[in-house]
Amino acid sequence: MKREKKTFLEELQQAKAGRYAVGAFNIFNYLSASAVVQAAAELDVPVILQTSVVTVKEFGPAKLGAMLRLIAEEASVNVLIHLDHCQDIELAKACVDAGWDSVMYDGSRLSLEENIAGCREVVKYAHSRGVDVEGEFGRIVGVEDAVKVSAEDASLAGLEDSIYFVRESGIDAYAPAIGTAHGVYIGTPTINFNLVAELKTAVEAPVVIHGGTGLSEETFRRLIRNGGAKVNVSTAIKHAYLDTCKAYFTEFPDKLDPVGFDRYLTRAIRATAREHMEIFTKDRI
Ligand code: 13P
Repeated sequence: MKREKKTFLEELQQAKAGRYAVGAFNIFNYLSASAVVQAAAELDVPVILQTSVVTVKEFGPAKLGAMLRLIAEEASVNVLIHLDHCQDIELAKACVDAGWDSVMYDGSRLSLEENIAGCREVVKYAHSRGVDVEGEFGRIVGVEDAVKVSAEDASLAGLEDSIYFVRESGIDAYAPAIGTAHGVYIGTPTINFNLVAELKTAVEAPVVIHGGTGLSEETFRRLIRNGGAKVNVSTAIKHAYLDTCKAYFTEFPDKLDPVGFDRYLTRAIRATAREHMEIFTKDRI
């Protein structure tokens, strides 16, 4: 049976209303993308294949877009293609043209007004082509491929600025810096759960939770119950990929079976993605 094709915004609105979150996994090649989609199909949930700028530049938007669209078209669930943390307006537009369903313009390093201006330009271009836009305010600490934010440069979002930012920028989904971090957590993060809850009613745009790797199940579920509608997971997928490669070559140093190796790797990534999606949909109503 063919799944219903909803837009990025429609999926996130439905998740917000239904108290679950759509998992957005940073994938970097065919194998990682298809493993994530297999996990979503097993659970019969929508999923977002998220591409970092580094991956887009490696393939080129046209080739990567074509490959991901093929995976999406063949899937039994709704698969959306999203561009993550793009600071380059021209590249965001190129992804819009190449078939992405949504793009994130990351102007968080800029002043509030400059960030809004950048978002507006991307929103104008994307919306006229049926593509949705995510924006960030505050600065999320940590490393997301080429985007590196130190603890000194990080800043949290507040309620009033958030309301202003979402309204003036025209974005469809909002990623506030709430105390989560990109990469591996060293200690327990201090997260502003209240801001997420306040934003649920204060702004229409569904809230996106960045820095999913390493958060506890309780933290995920609390954030999602409070209104988090999209949760980003990147580092966990990279670890599943590379740690499994290392384990395979230790266990089977002499095996000459690339197809078997791909299956082994696919299983590991599928399991990691699935574990997350199960948590993201646990309190669904
Ligand atoms: P992690 O790498 O911590 O999972 O964060 C992913 C993310 O937020 C991508 O935007």
